[in-house]
Amino acid sequence: MIVQTIGVVGCGQMGAGIAEVGVLAGYNVIVYGRNEDIRPACQARVRGSLERAASRGKLEAHEVVSALGRLRGTAHLADLAAADLAIECVAEDLALKHSIFRSLDDVLHPAAILASNTSSLSITEIALSTRRPDKVLGMHFFNPVPVMRLLELVRGLHTSDETLAMARKVGAYLGKTTITAPDSPGFIVNRLLIPYIVEAISAYEAGLGEVAVVDSAVKLGMGHPLGPLALADLIGLDVTLAIADTLYASSGNPYFKAPPLLRRMVAIGQLGRKTGQGFYEYRR
Ligand SMILES: NC(=O)c1ccc[n+]([C@@H]2O[C@H](COP(=O)([O-])OP(=O)(O)OC[C@H]3O[C@@H](n4cnc5c(N)ncnc54)[C@H](O)[C@@H]3O)[C@@H](O)[C@H]2O)c1
Repeated sequence: MIVQTIGVVGCGQMGAGIAEVGVLAGYNVIVYGRNEDIRPACQARVRGSLERAASRGKLEAHEVVSALGRLRGTAHLADLAAADLAIECVAEDLALKHSIFRSLDDVLHPAAILASNTSSLSITEIALSTRRPDKVLGMHFFNPVPVMRLLELVRGLHTSDETLAMARKVGAYLGKTTITAPDSPGFIVNRLLIPYIVEAISAYEAGLGEVAVVDSAVKLGMGHPLGPLALADLIGLDVTLAIADTLYASSGNPYFKAPPLLRRMVAIGQLGRKTGQGFYEYRR
């Protein structure tokens, strides 16, 4: 099978980013979102990002036009029937992902591959809601998708060699370097990243330093482009909390335990960049 059309489920920050790299690589991309206004909203998000890339000289104007011509939005999951590969990017919630995968399994042709961009949930478990667990895998992209070079492929217990090989090929066309991780809590990247972010929030909560001091310590002392608190804002504090809770529940490892401050910020809707307020304030 050759992947020509990619279906993206969810048009939040990850869904929009995956749609963007997909159309830029020449794939037809159909994005499903739950709102009736998905088409203008998704187009606007991807268009804005492509136009910013063009204004920085990274793309020609005609490339923006042809990439946008390959993008389609829909509020009906059945419209993903033409997809050879579906990449699910909805909220980090197992029950929600089960229901999406059940529907995708009904809608997509039997040879199609179903991928989840989950940060922390078990691929083996997600695959159980389908009749094709051999064609289910994790395709874990990083934020912002057009910039970050890694694609972490996650192999569930049922994932076939053919499925993995196809995902590797698509990853290469998307310009990503792929690594393969087992279906173990946090895979490779989040097993390392989430304890680090959790500890940074705890350190700030314990009064070790102001937000900018904690971030500067890491940026200047460890050479990271972003400090951990700015990174948590970029990921989304709701997403960070959901990942930490899932990893703590599935592994029992206290390194993943979410600090009370993170939970309180999410409870009052301070979710980071996406709401304009997190550890930092953002102009919207
Ligand atoms: N944010 C990151 O840095 C990052 C990185 C890698 C992977 N991920 C994973 O990607 C997925 C999406 O994260 P995001 O940051 O794009 O989140 P987001 O909050 O920006 O977007 C979530 C999307 O899910 C949709 N959604 C929520 N509930 C839904 C429902 N009931 N039915 C249909 N759609 C629904 C929302 O409309 C939205 O489009 C999560 O699984 C997350 O763990 C996130």
